[in-house]
Amino acid sequence: MSIHIGAKSGEIADKILLPGDPLRAKFIAENFLEKAACFNTIRGMLGYTGFYKGQAVSVMGTGMGMPSISIYVNELIRDYGVKKLIRVGTAGSIDPNVHVRELVLAQAAATNSRIISNDWPEYDFPQIADFTLLDKAYHIAENLGLVSHVGTVLSSDVFYSSMPERNIQLGEYGVKAIEMEAAALYYLAARYHVQALAVMTISDSLIHPEEDTTAEERETTFTDMMTVGLETLLADNKG
Ligand code: HPA
Repeated sequence: MSIHIGAKSGEIADKILLPGDPLRAKFIAENFLEKAACFNTIRGMLGYTGFYKGQAVSVMGTGMGMPSISIYVNELIRDYGVKKLIRVGTAGSIDPNVHVRELVLAQAAATNSRIISNDWPEYDFPQIADFTLLDKAYHIAENLGLVSHVGTVLSSDVFYSSMPERNIQLGEYGVKAIEMEAAALYYLAARYHVQALAVMTISDSLIHPEEDTTAEERETTFTDMMTVGLETLLADNKG
């Protein structure tokens, strides 16, 4: 056991899908994995290990925001030896060409958090995806006929920003969407020499707030994103 994860050693696969919502982890385990067994219920942050196309894969919620995902990712890497981590989540578009239901593959993550600059105050430390995972995910999405955008996201500490226009302005500098976890995931992956990628479905648009989705449409797109995540975990057998 680690402090926040109740799994015994060996109960977590070295490849993991990380949705923010623990109930989405349960959904993925029940609908995509075979022989899934729950390894964590501490704080309701459900985690499961099962098999996808014959290979052991885990899935676990991270909660929302960088402090929360950092706790789980630290323990998954350091205490359970996880080597490939793919976040599957939602993001708000700040690019007029990035629409709801489309995918964003976060090649890089900017952040307004001090989580990285606390460690590196004198540097702008870039948070980047593992290129192999990114490359695989891009082609898998393309083969599935999905629209995916590759570029920078903003990992924000604040969902209800009192100055949303500041974040939206970043769209003019090529930032495609706002979410709340990727920068911390990439930072920890760099720190511990493991592979990470964040794949997001656009759930809302900050510049076209009228763009909306039905519950059914959201479900289908989220399902597509899980397939991209799982296939990418399997496709990359580099190490
Ligand atoms: N901001 C931050 N995180 C998000 C958003 C947003 O607008 N939409 C979905 N996740």
